[in-house]
Amino acid sequence: MPRTLVTYFSNTGNTKKIADAIYMTLAGNKAIKPVNELQEQEIEEYSLIFIGFPVYSHSIPFPLEGILRNIPPNKKIALFSTYGSLTGSRLSRQALEYAFVLASKAKILGSFSCRGKVSPQALEVLEKSPEHKVWAEMAVSASTHPDRNDLEDARSFARWILTLAAQN
Ligand SMILES: Cc1cc2nc3c(=O)[nH]c(=O)nc-3n(C[C@H](O)[C@H](O)[C@H](O)COP(=O)(O)O)c2cc1C
Repeated sequence: MPRTLVTYFSNTGNTKKIADAIYMTLAGNKAIKPVNELQEQEIEEYSLIFIGFPVYSHSIPFPLEGILRNIPPNKKIALFSTYGSLTGSRLSRQALEYAFVLASKAKILGSFSCRGKVSPQALEVLEKSPEHKVWAEMAVSASTHPDRNDLEDARSFARWILTLAAQN
């Protein structure tokens, strides 16, 4: 069983729900920590790392950039994200694509993403901006996510990654 870390950034709790679901699926030697509590050298202690973040302005939150860039070569990682855009849209994928580039030295075993409720405060601001109004209307339907199915999918994702980690 690999020594496994789940680390994440989450401002309104959506990504944390996914992180918790992944963590609960892991057996044995495991830890879970928000990225702001993680010392960069701690990463060395783990053979498999799940790293999660919300999509912010088509990209990843700043605290994640350094972590992803500095993942040691060949370290096994899996990425997960939550987003407010419609599933499958370019907007929902951009940040994950960028994370793959940043962490390209690592052995990326897979990724998972699902919608996450956009905070009412953020939606209120966005709805008033002509540039973001349509996006805000689209994001309203994320309000029930992550839901039970998303959490079940996150657990399946974790089991799948564990299977891959055992083979590689
Ligand atoms: C400032 C801000 C910017 C965001 N930018 C995007 C975006 O570009 N694309 C997107 O799909 N969702 C965007 N979202 C929605 C979040 O990614 C989504 O609500 C996410 O689930 C929040 O995760 P958290 O609860 O873990 O913080 C944004 C939300 C905020 C507050």
